[in-house]
Amino acid sequence: MGQDMREFFGDYSEEDLLAGHEAFAGGGVSATVPVILASQQASTFTYLDGREVIDCTAQNWSLAIGACHPKVIAAVSEQIKYLTHVRTGFGTVAKLLLSKRLTDIAPGNLKKVSYCLHGSVANEGAMKLAVLNKPGRKFFLAPWLGYSGRTLATMAITYPHPNNRFLHFMGNVVRFPHAYCYRCYFDRNPKDCGFECVSFLRELIEHSVDGEPIGIFMEPLQGSGGMIEYPEGYLREIRKVCDDYDMLLIFDEIQTGFGRLGAMFASDLYGVVPDIMSYGKAIGGGFPLAGTLHRDTLEGYGPGDHSFTFAHFPPSMAAGVVTLQILQEEQLPQRAARIGRYITQRLHEMQDKYDLIGDIRGPGLMIGIELVRDRKTKEPAIEETDRFLDEGLKRGVLFGHSRYMSMGNVVKIKPPLVITEAQVERVLEVFEEVTALLSA
Ligand SMILES: Cc1ncc(COP(=O)(O)O)c(C=O)c1O
Repeated sequence: MGQDMREFFGDYSEEDLLAGHEAFAGGGVSATVPVILASQQASTFTYLDGREVIDCTAQNWSLAIGACHPKVIAAVSEQIKYLTHVRTGFGTVAKLLLSKRLTDIAPGNLKKVSYCLHGSVANEGAMKLAVLNKPGRKFFLAPWLGYSGRTLATMAITYPHPNNRFLHFMGNVVRFPHAYCYRCYFDRNPKDCGFECVSFLRELIEHSVDGEPIGIFMEPLQGSGGMIEYPEGYLREIRKVCDDYDMLLIFDEIQTGFGRLGAMFASDLYGVVPDIMSYGKAIGGGFPLAGTLHRDTLEGYGPGDHSFTFAHFPPSMAAGVVTLQILQEEQLPQRAARIGRYITQRLHEMQDKYDLIGDIRGPGLMIGIELVRDRKTKEPAIEETDRFLDEGLKRGVLFGHSRYMSMGNVVKIKPPLVITEAQVERVLEVFEEVTALLSA
């Protein structure tokens, strides 16, 4: 048996693969790059030509337990001998166990769970729940640089997409300036600003929204929008705003959930429980799995409100049960906290040497490094960031990249939480080598 899968797919030529590439409709994030992956293992992947790369993107920040975890592969392989696809009305052991265990570990009273296969669809589900519970209200509030997916509804609550060709079909959202202390929109110092941005949000609610808003839809740490961790106390302020205005708080924990921040959920780490949470990515252990958790006192979905043909896909359910076990047994959130602290400390040491490193943000293995041309003016080093990624890849490390708004100057280190100490050293070595090269 080989990675080329010829045993199953039959023989094929290079031309067949090229023709396949040309036939693809596009729309993906890197559809123009014809690189072919042959295999993955834990924190690395290998091209068809044999080159191995340490993956600091965990493939869309999803492979928290690493790629092809043997326990997940074993459980899924066993499951698919008996069940491949079942309609959402049926129970399966995996689905029922996952529902119990997810609601056991969920923060606060988020005791109701739903499933689908994509984060964007989970977020649509979260939006539906919010709409159901605030009937008649029209507007969501969402932060300027939030990212919540690429379905029509979630594109609206995301930062304004450049050249958005679907604009005429977008839902109602009022975007607000969130806390971004490195580049404070209000030109204040976080030490004594008194959360001016939150006061502004209150003003916005009073004066810019028609009627009462449904709620605030946000990531508890902005991932795609620049890796922005909010300052201590900010999310508690946001919770308070929601309570004061009788709005729902919806956390998109699709990136932050399941250990990446050094806690099972961002909600645990920051001590703020939303009314509705969406989750996805890591929980599938490499298989598509996402959904919502909501407060048990909220009105839930009615029949057919949020049902999709493959939503309760048995292989994904089995993968989810085992992934959760692995996260807990291998104490991966704690590992993310420990390794994240180490990487961050090493990056701070490099920051003393290289002006290119403007800001270093965490926590855990949710690390973003904002590159600047000048520490004082903070001019974003956009081209340098592109080159950073290319040079990293040449050296066998794939770094992530925030291409948000017009900035795109944040390098991301968000590997699988199982990344080894030796791989961490290599990543740091390459990071410094490339930083030095771009600083020369
Ligand atoms: C915070 C967040 N929400 C939602 C999504 C959308 O998830 P999906 O791509 O699975 O639809 C993403 C994907 O990157 C994400 O990072």
